[in-house]
Amino acid sequence: MNDVTSLILNRLRQAGDFLSGEELCREFGITRSAVWKHIRRLRSEGYHVDAITGRGYHLSGLTGRAVEAEVIPFLTAQRFGRRFFYHPVTESTNLLAKALASNGAPEGSVVVADSQTGGRGTRGRHWISPPGMNLYFSLILRPGVPSIRVPQLALLVAVAIHQALSRLAPELVAKIKWPNDILSNGKKLCGVLCEMFSEPDVTHFVVIGIGINVNQPELSCELQDIATSLFLETGQLISRPALLAFVLNQFEPLYDAWLLEEDLGFVLPYLEKHSLLHSRQVTVDQLNRTLSGRVSGISRCGELMLEGEDGQTLLLSSGEAHLRKEIS
Ligand code: BTN
Repeated sequence: MNDVTSLILNRLRQAGDFLSGEELCREFGITRSAVWKHIRRLRSEGYHVDAITGRGYHLSGLTGRAVEAEVIPFLTAQRFGRRFFYHPVTESTNLLAKALASNGAPEGSVVVADSQTGGRGTRGRHWISPPGMNLYFSLILRPGVPSIRVPQLALLVAVAIHQALSRLAPELVAKIKWPNDILSNGKKLCGVLCEMFSEPDVTHFVVIGIGINVNQPELSCELQDIATSLFLETGQLISRPALLAFVLNQFEPLYDAWLLEEDLGFVLPYLEKHSLLHSRQVTVDQLNRTLSGRVSGISRCGELMLEGEDGQTLLLSSGEAHLRKEIS
């Protein structure tokens, strides 16, 4: 949103009542048609602005969408979210973020969409992204670390999301499922798609795409058994702008600490405490094999430690884990 539009938005917010067109012209030193242009822009972003001849303009509702002007009041992060690209609809925020990063967008830039027509999940899956209810966003990072360390970011961001959820929805019992899903009552609430753009010895940038089912009131039959939303879990509507800001606020200091550290050692106690898989019997699907065993932990480098029946522990750097039914 351009600066004058967001100043006018703030002015309308403070006024709480009608403000005349002349008053806005005078305060901002712009013409009546320019005022109208800014009002139209606010409306296109989803704000309800009443316009009544003889009275002026009145802001009658916030959007509830994660637009910049509604995220900023919650944002304490210094860099993350300070460059903000909002789209009511786009194919995939990861795709847009990749294009922006290739054109030099700085670290911390965030791309948000209210809906996606081609939302992308892990393993080539589709991420269903209906409008008006959930969060879909991508963060651009330029970590400047050897590319071998980059996969650790998936777990780090899962920690940040988990912490943000604990603050905004304390009654929720959320679990982190290695490497980066967040689940509640065994159903997926949130997925993360990390994409790295690098050459063997240099990481150009990383795009971290996050999808959180926030206020979705119901899920399709195919998803009902495996996915859920914050609303379905808590019965509460959650502010999407606040949740987005909270994730960024939690993630920035973790990321800064991680850049200085060698590995994920400093978040392992948190991961262990909130891990879904800890000490559980699982199967892990990798590209060309399926392994099973008991999860004995997560390594400092973010690998899943899988103890096989032969007592040997394997360190897995990728894969999709499934809980096995425990035999009692
Ligand atoms: C998963 O499959 O678990 C990962 C899902 C990631 C979805 C998010 S929504 C925002 C961003 N843009 C995308 O196209 N995908 C990610």
